[in-house]
Amino acid sequence: MQRAISKSKTAAVLPEPVAVAWPVGAPNQPASGAPRPFLKWAGGKGQLLGELRHLFPRTFGTYFEPFLGGGAVYFDLRPRKAFLNDINAALMGSYLNVKRRPDAVIERLRLLQDEYLGAPEPARAEMFYRVRDEYNGLPDHTPQKTACLIFLNKTCYNGMYRESSTGQFNVPFGRYRNPRILDEENLRGASALLAGAELSSTPFEEAVRDAGKNDFVYFDPPYHPLSETSSFTSYHARDFAEADQIRLRDVFADLDRRGCLVMLSNSYTEFTRNLYEGFHQHTVLANRAINCKATGRGKIKELVVTNYRP
Ligand SMILES: C[S@@+](CC[C@H](N)C(=O)[O-])C[C@H]1O[C@@H](n2cnc3c(N)ncnc32)[C@H](O)[C@@H]1O
Repeated sequence: MQRAISKSKTAAVLPEPVAVAWPVGAPNQPASGAPRPFLKWAGGKGQLLGELRHLFPRTFGTYFEPFLGGGAVYFDLRPRKAFLNDINAALMGSYLNVKRRPDAVIERLRLLQDEYLGAPEPARAEMFYRVRDEYNGLPDHTPQKTACLIFLNKTCYNGMYRESSTGQFNVPFGRYRNPRILDEENLRGASALLAGAELSSTPFEEAVRDAGKNDFVYFDPPYHPLSETSSFTSYHARDFAEADQIRLRDVFADLDRRGCLVMLSNSYTEFTRNLYEGFHQHTVLANRAINCKATGRGKIKELVVTNYRP
């Protein structure tokens, strides 16, 4: 099977996983100096890790995360061997470049950071839109594109990732006073950890094809909307509809039959609860925007499904 990073589905040639200093599958305490996500991502699970850790399996073989985003759970578990995937090819290109070419990413990011921090406010906004245009024109696998993505993620409005219908990143300027654009130590730590990961950019079904007995698969798909109007599925130019949620449930059930340990996060709705009837259902409390006003934030119940008793 080909594991592709690009939209052209060219197989990525990846080195053998190497041993890293962390135990396989141990839900670890946050270790100081351990690598953290290098991108902020909508729907990121960072704030939920305290609750999710209780639900991880105690031991497992290989780790699979088919909707990787910022990878909060991956960086928390730090598994020795992992298959990481997201349909966003520029995002997965950035993991590949941080893994294989950290020096090139760091060098380019340093130039962007120096220019940005040395510029007054109007010039910063101009620079942001120049880098955004550059990003949209670059091929997904270049370290330049990865440096632009990290730069935009740290300086755009709310650290969001959103694309237009034609696939162009279109989030506006964020006006942060002193953003930390380059965290060299963290990028080098992420690079070492990613040495044990195989990376792909395919639809989720393909990304779990090789999962077998005792492997741990964590699904964090775009959430089923809480109401008709609250839909937020715009990570990518394509949406994630109810039919996709149903296909995902079928894949979940198939992995269960194959002896995998499977965990999934989603919104807490009648639809999602019915879809996963018969599996273990848990609730966690997340801080989420619950309407479009800044004041509309609060704790909101989310669903976590497992096919094992944690
Ligand atoms: C909720 S986010 C994941 C957040 C992530 N767990 C984190 O902590 O940052 C969902 C991700 O699914 C990806 N995605 C959407 N449709 C997909 C598909 N059909 N196959 C694989 N990935 C998909 C999006 O690009 C997005 O990054």
